[in-house]
Amino acid sequence: MQSYRYPPQIEINSLGHLETRGIELSALAARFATPLYVMDEALIRQHCRDYWRGFSDYANGQVVYAGKALLNQAICRIIEQEKLYLDVVSGGELYTALSAGFPAKKMLFHGNNKTKEELKLALQSGIGRIVVDNLTELALLQELTLELHCEADLMLRITPGVEAHTHEYIRTAQTDSKFGLGISDDQLQDAIQSILQTPRLHLKGIHCHIGSQIMEEAPYSLAVELMFGLLDQIRSRYHLTLPELNLGGGIGIRYTSEDLPLQPTAVVHHIAEQVRLQADKLNFPLPKLFVEPGRAIVGEAGFTLYTIGGIKDVPGIRRYVSVDGGMSDNIRPALYQAVYEAVVVDKANEPLLQKVHLAGKHCETGDILIKDLRLPEVEAGDVIAVFATGAYNYSMASNYNRAARPAMVLVSASGVDLMQKRESYEDLIRLDQIPPHLK
Ligand code: LLP
Repeated sequence: MQSYRYPPQIEINSLGHLETRGIELSALAARFATPLYVMDEALIRQHCRDYWRGFSDYANGQVVYAGKALLNQAICRIIEQEKLYLDVVSGGELYTALSAGFPAKKMLFHGNNKTKEELKLALQSGIGRIVVDNLTELALLQELTLELHCEADLMLRITPGVEAHTHEYIRTAQTDSKFGLGISDDQLQDAIQSILQTPRLHLKGIHCHIGSQIMEEAPYSLAVELMFGLLDQIRSRYHLTLPELNLGGGIGIRYTSEDLPLQPTAVVHHIAEQVRLQADKLNFPLPKLFVEPGRAIVGEAGFTLYTIGGIKDVPGIRRYVSVDGGMSDNIRPALYQAVYEAVVVDKANEPLLQKVHLAGKHCETGDILIKDLRLPEVEAGDVIAVFATGAYNYSMASNYNRAARPAMVLVSASGVDLMQKRESYEDLIRLDQIPPHLK
């Protein structure tokens, strides 16, 4: 028997088969083929609401979804219906959201190298906030707003000197990061002065994002304190009380049974309390407070189905069990040594007799999805589910080895619907061009 703690959308039926919302996972694999991303609408909505609940005592809060975790037109619809704003980081994300009818006013534009074309599209569509990352971008915005005869509402991305990852966080005087302006850096003062001297640009607030997969509250408290220090300094130096504070995303999720993530409601509540405390202490009006989760909205709401193919023993060493996807649909194990758990969908109650490496199908030794995974006896054709793949899987997928990117379905009260078609071979060659001398 397996002691695995299943994600909330998964159940085992009387046959020992895994189901999601009453549908056998093997039936999903048969209907849509594999690899297949499976997203759960109710869970995405529940996570959005968990964040909102954290603001129940804080009137001026706003939850923003970081679209880099997973973005397509259907996700935009859900996010908008749940009244979240959207953080976009590229012209492509912006275009996707606009095409889905997501209001530009409710979007924040991030990124450390927004191009002229991207900024133009953002300004022309009437984007809510541009989160300015550096002085080059600011100069570009001054030029573009003049050229387009428009105005822009800005936030400044600050590196506050807190870096948090999982259970570790460090406080650094100067953060070595490509993002943002150092909290005590002269360039930050230059940026503020430059905005204040440009009537078309309006400085609304400051932003920071302190890390990913964060498993404790303390780094957020420290970030609030440091950011209020800056708000206070700006008030005394420039007689300007900035009305907005954005504390980024980063709350961790449960990838494995050992992970004990924070509850978003509790963290947002904690952040809001810290903000209230600092505001009281420094005699500030309560700012409009943004939090910006990505992973915690979609991560656990998704899993990936694969079909097992080649099984190979390296005598005396280990067994490799290969699946029909891999690093092209989930780069995180290869890139970050991220750890996932997986279960053979129709053998959920069978004894775990072996430890194997679950390998992808790509021409790369490092294409191992899960190391030392405990499995029952398996054979080619068995379907396996890898859990918690909703964030930074599809959005980081590639066509390595000319793999066609998988389809994605949305499981909801209305049933199961495609929300991202599987790429075809035609899609793979759609943009290929043969230069005339090779024809
Ligand atoms: N806001 C800003 C400005 C960010 O840079 C990020 C993530 C977020 C919000 C959302 O963070 P989240 O809540 O998802 O942790 N590819 C990596 C994650 C990179 C995150 C970068 N920024 C991964 O797969 O773990």
